[in-house]
Amino acid sequence: MRVHSLLSVGVLALSALAAGAQIASGAQKNLVQRPTPTQVALTPPMGWNSWNFFAGRVTDKDIRAAADQLVASGMKDAGYVYVNIDDTWEGERDANGVLHSNAKFPDMKALADYVHSKGLKLGIYSSPGPKTCAGFEGSLDHEVQDAELYSSWGIDYLKYDLCSYIPTVMMNRAPGDKDAQMRMMVAAYTKMDKALKATGRPIVYSLCQYGWDAVWEWGPKVGANLWRTTGDIQPNWNSIYSILNEQAGLAQYAGPGHWNDPDMLEVGNGKLSLAENRTHFSMWAMLAAPLLAGNDLPNMTPDVLAILTNRDVIAIDQDRLGREATRAYSDGEVDVWTRLLSGGAMVIAVVNAGSDRYSTHPFHLSLAKLGLRGPQKGKDLWTGKEITLTNDMPVEIASHDILLVRIPSPK
Ligand code: GLA
Repeated sequence: MRVHSLLSVGVLALSALAAGAQIASGAQKNLVQRPTPTQVALTPPMGWNSWNFFAGRVTDKDIRAAADQLVASGMKDAGYVYVNIDDTWEGERDANGVLHSNAKFPDMKALADYVHSKGLKLGIYSSPGPKTCAGFEGSLDHEVQDAELYSSWGIDYLKYDLCSYIPTVMMNRAPGDKDAQMRMMVAAYTKMDKALKATGRPIVYSLCQYGWDAVWEWGPKVGANLWRTTGDIQPNWNSIYSILNEQAGLAQYAGPGHWNDPDMLEVGNGKLSLAENRTHFSMWAMLAAPLLAGNDLPNMTPDVLAILTNRDVIAIDQDRLGREATRAYSDGEVDVWTRLLSGGAMVIAVVNAGSDRYSTHPFHLSLAKLGLRGPQKGKDLWTGKEITLTNDMPVEIASHDILLVRIPSPK
């Protein structure tokens, strides 16, 4: 079952929130209008995050090196802007409750200034619970203080990870009462959203609660710009392909300013083959997913860089219509997904999930099933060559590889 059932959806909590918002807006009618906060994440955020490669080992030096490499490699020019520090930067709170970074991050403000001097943005990580997933200090009961701290440092992005909030608050305060637990979680995410907005600084708000309780239905209501739809990704085909399949049915929930997040990229990590890296990257672009690279930037191979900077594929992800791909059909071990772009173009992705080139043969791509008639002229986005697709044409795709075609004027 795709939707985990740790908690059930707390409709009551949401209507209470909506009612609260109405009261607030009514009360503010006669007040001087505040400037509208800058909208963030109108297209899926792009950048790099420390977790998938460094996990708990990340340091200030690694973050600076990642920022340097985003610029030097051309990734910044291709759209990668956010440099996100994940878990394990946190130190202790002082007597006033102010959180300090730990010895790995001696001066967070100086780090933010450095990242900003490169034309990039800095992201950070916390939890609504007392501890993060790695056991470091979380934001429970310090939400406003932490949001102000992030803002004073110049933070542009927050990943807020449920972690210890589940046992310490939800299960502890409302044992066995799933609805009450759900309301607590929604309240915790709302609280941090308000704290972030109150700083006046545009900060991308990223929810991480592993896709439980149909987060895509209520994420936008708690101010989220993106929400994880799954558990943690791993750098292997099974993980990537099972996450991909879990995304079917979620397209309707994504759009400018609020995105489904099937987790950060593993492109260039583990033992993924080039075909697997290509398919992973292509399909995350089809899903309008945040493109947060997670590899060792200073040591990436030219092949991996070429995948991460394929402008045609990035353009799919960043299409301003923000309409996520849907799975049109599966046939044996081959899946066909389509995505509509602004200006009427269509992208067709054909993924061979089989373990060898021949496991799916003969595969004939049905254009009829995609609602297309007659030959369709397009561009193969991995060879860069023109291609004409015809109904039922035989398609040969290597194991775990993809055919990705953009058709400017589908008929
Ligand atoms: C959770 C998240 C990961 C990462 C780690 C850090 O597992 O899902 O993405 O942030 O915590 O501890």
